[in-house]
Amino acid sequence: MTTARLIALDQILFVLVAAAWAATAGIALTGLRQPAAAGRRTRLIAAASCAAAIVVTALRVAVTTGLAGAGWWFVAEKVTLALPLVVVPALVSAAVSLPRLLRGPAIGSSTGSTRIVAFPLLVTAYGAVAGIACAVVISYPVTTGGAAAVLALFAAASAVTWRLLGPARSPRHGWQAAGTCVLALALALTIGGGWPSGHLHPGHDAGGRGVSVDLLRGPAPAAAGGPAGARERVRRFTLTAQPATVRLPSGGGAEAWSFNGQVPGPVLRVRQGDLVEVVLRNRLPVQKGTVQGGTGQAGNGQAGSGQGVTIHWHGYDVPAAEDGVPGVTQDAVWPGQSHVYRFRAEDAGTYWYHSHQNSSVAVPRGLFGLLVVDPAAPAPESEDHVLALHTFGSRPTLSVDGAAPSDLLTRLTLAPGARTRLRVVNTDTRPVVLGLSGVPYRIAAVDGGDVPGATDLDGARLHLAAGGRYDLTFTVPSGPVLLTTGDRPALLVNGPATPPPAAGPIVDITRYGSPAALPARFDRETTWVLDKTLAVSGGLPRLAQTVNGKAWPNIPTPVVRQGQTVRIRVVNRGTDTHPMHPHGHHVRILSRNGVPATGLAMDTFDVAPGEVWEVALVADNPGVWMSHCHDLAHAAQGMEFHLAYEGVTTPYDMTAGNHPA
Ligand code: C2O
Ligand code: CU
Repeated sequence: MTTARLIALDQILFVLVAAAWAATAGIALTGLRQPAAAGRRTRLIAAASCAAAIVVTALRVAVTTGLAGAGWWFVAEKVTLALPLVVVPALVSAAVSLPRLLRGPAIGSSTGSTRIVAFPLLVTAYGAVAGIACAVVISYPVTTGGAAAVLALFAAASAVTWRLLGPARSPRHGWQAAGTCVLALALALTIGGGWPSGHLHPGHDAGGRGVSVDLLRGPAPAAAGGPAGARERVRRFTLTAQPATVRLPSGGGAEAWSFNGQVPGPVLRVRQGDLVEVVLRNRLPVQKGTVQGGTGQAGNGQAGSGQGVTIHWHGYDVPAAEDGVPGVTQDAVWPGQSHVYRFRAEDAGTYWYHSHQNSSVAVPRGLFGLLVVDPAAPAPESEDHVLALHTFGSRPTLSVDGAAPSDLLTRLTLAPGARTRLRVVNTDTRPVVLGLSGVPYRIAAVDGGDVPGATDLDGARLHLAAGGRYDLTFTVPSGPVLLTTGDRPALLVNGPATPPPAAGPIVDITRYGSPAALPARFDRETTWVLDKTLAVSGGLPRLAQTVNGKAWPNIPTPVVRQGQTVRIRVVNRGTDTHPMHPHGHHVRILSRNGVPATGLAMDTFDVAPGEVWEVALVADNPGVWMSHCHDLAHAAQGMEFHLAYEGVTTPYDMTAGNHPA
């Protein structure tokens, strides 16, 4: 069984185990208090229920054993805490309670024997419930505080139960018991809570002596003269954030935020070596009397009102100050304000740009566009098209070369024999399965970078992560070619005949292309265990998307030194897919689930439930960088943090209305 299945099964089982033991204890208590004859039947039902509870408990042990094969990260809190808390009392129940429930004569007459039979059953139920708490509250790693809290509550509940089942019950006992519980709860919360007040400035503090991220700018055109200056082109663009309405061919539509009145925004197409200068202007409406404070931190007077905007160059590893993350590399640009971005387009490939202020709202609403850097040397393809996938409401759409998006089939006519490149960009927050049929094709580039040794694929399908890009190349055949996104026929080349959609296996992108030379030694290692757990986020405990049990802004900032090679292990122990996106760097994929990879460079890699990815990051772009899940709703639910370089500081923080997710 796959790890993902085991994770899902375990989640069902821990609820079942708790329910089974609670039911058993309840029925047994009823049976023990009934007179002999009537109680006999009830006690037999309790015995059957107990047997069933033992069986599901054993199943849970088996599933945990299976999960342990995938790695300690998946079972740590189960092996050390959750299972002992239920298995030990379950064994006592099996040895003590079960035979007595099965035995003939009434035993309810003596309170002593009620206690002997019911106590182990109730304690097992508490242990099972504590097991749920372990999964939801503790996850990985197991913290002493969390463990102490769970144990304190378990012990208190057991002690109170022992008293209540005892012989001399009086109302006073009830009050004492309740008091003990409240005390234990308070104690548990104090020890286990670790209630961090939401830091406004997450993580990194280099003591104020470092270089400010503000100084790590792209080259200004004047300073870019130099010896080769005569040949340098400066490409200037203005992107104006403004409201727009999207009309879909099927008749649907959506109110959108756009760059320059179009969604997607204009395709920025430059040549390798160009100096790119983009002026961002925010002309979204000013909302009187509102301050966009993100997680509830009020603006400090610099914050404007209405929707702030920034531009992040997704996958393009710009100098840190140009990265467009509010609160990290700049302040959000408010209606009426503007901001200039500059970077030299040294890396050819397919990229995209999007606002990073309230990105989980702004990107789905339309504040994005595509960026293509054409190679300095002439490309072999005579046909080159950019395809943006984006979902408006629930309608998946395709936009070809920046044209209005279509939720119906888009048609394209290409000359047979033409070498063709389709640059597919997933601007959604969920992965998409692509199919290209009617022609053998190659994945010529992944996330902007060329794939060495790309081989022909025929009928195979592709899994494209949220935020990721694939460049597909082929020679136009005499017949038609069809691109499908999910189940949807999205693009038909040279119809009207339609080839059957691709139905082949999904390519394992980590094994595609020829193996690259990979770093052999690492200066640092770090592990990010992803899960959905109870964590403090936005100042309150909530069910959050967590990294190592913590949510933004409480996730510690990994700090690297320039020049270091870092091995990052990403473990997904939850049930959601997490497209992880470190800013400012491409990582090389080393392995997936222990299977060595070819070492492709990616900026957004999709870690599915139960998967373990190992990637290498070379610290070659100093700054303070955002790192997050590109399911932007997950980022907003806590799955974002910084990656910082030693000696680099940022003057920005999460006040002034900055709110990256
Ligand atoms: Cu495309 Cu931080 O994002
Ligand atoms: Cu995620």
